[in-house]
Amino acid sequence: MAASRLALRGKAAVPAAVRLCRQADALAAAGRAEEADAAYRHALATDPALAGAHNNHGNVLRALGRIEAAAAAYRAALRCGLDVGLVRYNLAAVLRQAGRLEEAASAYRHALCLDPDYAEAWNNQANLLRDRERLTEAAIGYRRAVAIRPDWTDGHDNLASALYLLHDRGEHDTAARLARDWRRDHPDNPVARHIGSAIAGDSTEVRAPDAYVRQTFDLFAAEFDDRLAALGYQAPALLIEAVAASGPAPSGQFQVLDAGCGTGLCAAGLRPYARHLSGVDLSGGMLARAQARGHYDALHEAELVAHLRAHQDRFDLIVAADVLCYFGDLFDAFAAVAGALRAGGRLAFSVERLTDTDDGNTDNGNTDGVAFRVGTHGRYAHQPAYVLNALAASGLRVVHTTEHTLRHESGEPVVGLVIVAVTPG
Ligand SMILES: C[S@@+](CC[C@H](N)C(=O)[O-])C[C@H]1O[C@@H](n2cnc3c(N)ncnc32)[C@H](O)[C@@H]1O
Repeated sequence: MAASRLALRGKAAVPAAVRLCRQADALAAAGRAEEADAAYRHALATDPALAGAHNNHGNVLRALGRIEAAAAAYRAALRCGLDVGLVRYNLAAVLRQAGRLEEAASAYRHALCLDPDYAEAWNNQANLLRDRERLTEAAIGYRRAVAIRPDWTDGHDNLASALYLLHDRGEHDTAARLARDWRRDHPDNPVARHIGSAIAGDSTEVRAPDAYVRQTFDLFAAEFDDRLAALGYQAPALLIEAVAASGPAPSGQFQVLDAGCGTGLCAAGLRPYARHLSGVDLSGGMLARAQARGHYDALHEAELVAHLRAHQDRFDLIVAADVLCYFGDLFDAFAAVAGALRAGGRLAFSVERLTDTDDGNTDNGNTDGVAFRVGTHGRYAHQPAYVLNALAASGLRVVHTTEHTLRHESGEPVVGLVIVAVTPG
């Protein structure tokens, strides 16, 4: 469309404007936004009808934080005849940033009329609806996005969050219906399976699937430390305190495993105990951050139970901070820990305590009551008696138990147990 307009212009002006425009595009691609801005201005002064240049100029202005100017540039592209989904989508994004939400909503509607298969537009329109508490509509929008791009992890993650919020707001039936539809349409997607089942209330999984853990934490890795700090996350500090209270001196004598080490928040506290400190985690994204801390002697990208089974009689101290909440059944995990610990070795871990008000609704068939339950956020909470039984079954003897707020969730404290258990000496 832009090219046919250009052909109508005077011969000398057209190539010059196009050349300037290409220079501006190259500067923008190189991240030289101020220079690109000047080059677009020059190009558009030469030929104000270059619709594509107006759109690209809008992108540069947005990158420079000049939101109103960006909106004006996208509108100029539309006036020049480039009325396509992409420009309406760009316009919607800056209007949302400017807080002009009605106009942004209208621009997304327009984008989707022009291009109904525009997954990002469905997703971002849904973000706008979610911010305005229109959660059912938001969830439907995310479903449209992942229907178009079934492998889009951000889209699935956003849908999971919208359904979680909907459930949290008390709209359990709507959330469950949408969750079942989501799971039905994406039976191979690990987030749809794990979170969909938790929200639908019919989970039969005994732990979070590896693919779910990997995908969730890879996506979360960059924000993990800041987000958890904002939630008042205490588990690493509490476990280090518990290890100290349970007896051993921090004199660098132990073979230590940080099990489910994540970004390595436990590492600094464990280092004084370690002759050798290793970490294991399913998420490469989390491990990359752990590596950057420089405290570990070795890091392994592996599933925890498999890793323990492959390292029999190897460790003096295993620490699992906020990791066993991704396991429902603890018998296998504790048996693997017991096998990987040397005589007299110790396990320090946290679990979330199951309460009557827990959100999840999966009864795992324990006739003495619910042993563990997956919440709508995807983590499991455990009945203390069940945890103690599972430890005893693996020959692990409890030497320290305390109850604490491990973190907050939706403004509420998440109460958990911090336990240290030892193998027979
Ligand atoms: C909430 S984070 C806690 C990370 C770290 N322990 C801390 O306290 O900051 C949970 C971590 O456990 C890992 N994880 C969960 N299930 C796992 C499994 N079965 N095998 C290995 N890693 C697992 C996740 O990838 C994630 O990095």
